[in-house]
Amino acid sequence: MSTAPKLFQPFTLRGIVAKNRVVISPMCQYSAHEGHLEDWHLVNLGRFAMGGAGIIITEATAVQKDGRITHGCPGLWDDSQIIGHARIAQFCRRNGAVAGIQLGHAGRKSGMQRPWYGNGPLNADDFARGDMPWPPVGPSAVPVAEGWPDVHALSLPEIETLLDCYAAAARRAVAAGYQLIEIHGAHGYLVHSFLSPLSNFRTDAYGGSLENRMRLALDIARTVRAAIPDEIALSFRTSAVDGDEDGWQLSDTVVLAQQLKACGVDLIDCSSGGIAGPATSARGGKRQPGFQVPFAETVRAKADMPTMAVGLITHPQQAEAILQAGHADLIAIAREALVNPMWALHASQYLGHDTEFSDWPAQSGWWLNVRAGNSEFYQPD
Ligand SMILES: Cc1cc2nc3c(=O)[nH]c(=O)nc-3n(C[C@H](O)[C@H](O)[C@H](O)COP(=O)(O)O)c2cc1C
Repeated sequence: MSTAPKLFQPFTLRGIVAKNRVVISPMCQYSAHEGHLEDWHLVNLGRFAMGGAGIIITEATAVQKDGRITHGCPGLWDDSQIIGHARIAQFCRRNGAVAGIQLGHAGRKSGMQRPWYGNGPLNADDFARGDMPWPPVGPSAVPVAEGWPDVHALSLPEIETLLDCYAAAARRAVAAGYQLIEIHGAHGYLVHSFLSPLSNFRTDAYGGSLENRMRLALDIARTVRAAIPDEIALSFRTSAVDGDEDGWQLSDTVVLAQQLKACGVDLIDCSSGGIAGPATSARGGKRQPGFQVPFAETVRAKADMPTMAVGLITHPQQAEAILQAGHADLIAIAREALVNPMWALHASQYLGHDTEFSDWPAQSGWWLNVRAGNSEFYQPD
């Protein structure tokens, strides 16, 4: 048996082996041009590979042009977009990380403001910057909230087209070199808005009962799985709860996870919120460390599936304890990785796994080990 901390034991999913359990959670950069990734994205994600993460997931990437969250969000709706992703996937893989990507459609929340311009519906200031609106789509013709644009309810032929776009984007992701694909089923975007009774008022096969509301998520999972080779891992990010007594519940997530598993999904990434309250927070209150871990724990136990825990996991000991307790298989880090892109390497040192900078890139590890052995460091009085 390995004596390494659990956080630094390898993790296998289908044909991929992650060298450790640290995952960089998808993080939008709102900095793409016409859906194309830039040098920014390569450097941003590349530093996490240099920082020792086991899996790196590229931000929410739209399968259709109108499925972008903002004008600055990337896409894979066109072959010309593959090259930008390929640079990132190749860099991550060459530097020891599994390269993953999140595929999504923003649905009712598509075409909104970049966060630093307000995070709301586009307004005259955005139009002046050239960010013009487009009509968002959803399960039903119900806007996100008052003041948000009208929503077009997807027709059945439009759902067929959407599925084709998921398949095409998944094939492009594989062509780019990604080894893990995550379907974005959370945070109030299109898939989640079909799942939740708070936003889905359809009366056809895609609305009403739980079975019907899950249909789009399951159709997408089956479609993506059929489009990619067996060895590519498939994850699904869920908003495990809406945080509203009339909304989507954790018990629904367990049922969904069981059915996703039957469709060839390998991992459930457990987030929350996005319809009844802000994304990654099921309504109200100050978020506590590891606030979403119980969702990963329940899904793992009840659906008998690997899960990824995410949300205010910031300390190596905290991450290790979650894994040791069997509450999740992988630990996703987002904002703490922005604070410290080398979080995984520091965690390895903190947990006593790497005592000589041997996990560090050779370009710096050798020097840092020598410095540690022969230097005194400034200590304030
Ligand atoms: C800058 C930024 C962009 C994000 N973009 C995405 C995204 O593209 N897809 C997604 O599912 N979640 C996104 N999230 C949510 C994170 O993946 C993560 O679930 C959340 O921040 C909670 O984890 P943390 O406490 O470690 O930051 C984003 C978060 C941040 C901070």
